[in-house]
Amino acid sequence: MKIGIAGVPGTGKTTVSEILSKRLGIPVIHQSDYFSGLVSLKAVRTKFWWLLQRYKDVIIEGHLLCDVKLPLDYLFILRTRPDVLMGRLEERGYSKEKIDENVLAEALDYCLQRAEERYDRIIQIDTTETSPELVAERIIRCINGDCQSDEVDWIPVLEKLIISGKITYI
Ligand SMILES: Nc1ncnc2c1ncn2[C@@H]1O[C@H](COP(=O)(O)OP(=O)(O)OP(=O)(O)O)[C@@H](O)[C@H]1O
Ligand SMILES: [Mg+2]
Repeated sequence: MKIGIAGVPGTGKTTVSEILSKRLGIPVIHQSDYFSGLVSLKAVRTKFWWLLQRYKDVIIEGHLLCDVKLPLDYLFILRTRPDVLMGRLEERGYSKEKIDENVLAEALDYCLQRAEERYDRIIQIDTTETSPELVAERIIRCINGDCQSDEVDWIPVLEKLIISGKITYI
């Protein structure tokens, strides 16, 4: 089984995939071990295809999964309410520009929209008010046949962030 975990930076992909890897006893491929900064999507697709062929059961995680088509059984997209995501990215010490860019991408469903063109089995998980352990738990339940995808609408939160001047780079 090949499990993809995608989502905007800060939604918890790496944290959740590590927990999942231990729980399921299968390896995880981290995008950040192979790519950083500006990358060619063609190179990403080729590398990931090649890596995925090496394992029968594997987890792969990274935000670029939304932008390339890969032979995955499931694509989980982690979602986080934009104001909470902003807090997580501030803690990382990201520049204001980088924070706003990622918060906007989350608020406007960037990853989901890109992934919908490429994958049939997309499950969204809202991580806003839960723990990484419970997110991993939901993923396990899903691959065992009990799948629930969350619907999110971050537009009202985005409006508040813009009106209150918390997002400036638009
Ligand atoms: N429910 C949750 N699920 C996942 N992460 C959470 C949750 N609640 C809080 N966090 C925190 O959010 C942060 C997410 O960091 P993490 O590095 O896993 O994100 P990422 O999606 O891999 O980001 P990047 O794309 O930059 O690698 C961590 O500090 C984690 O502890
Ligand atoms: Mg990560």
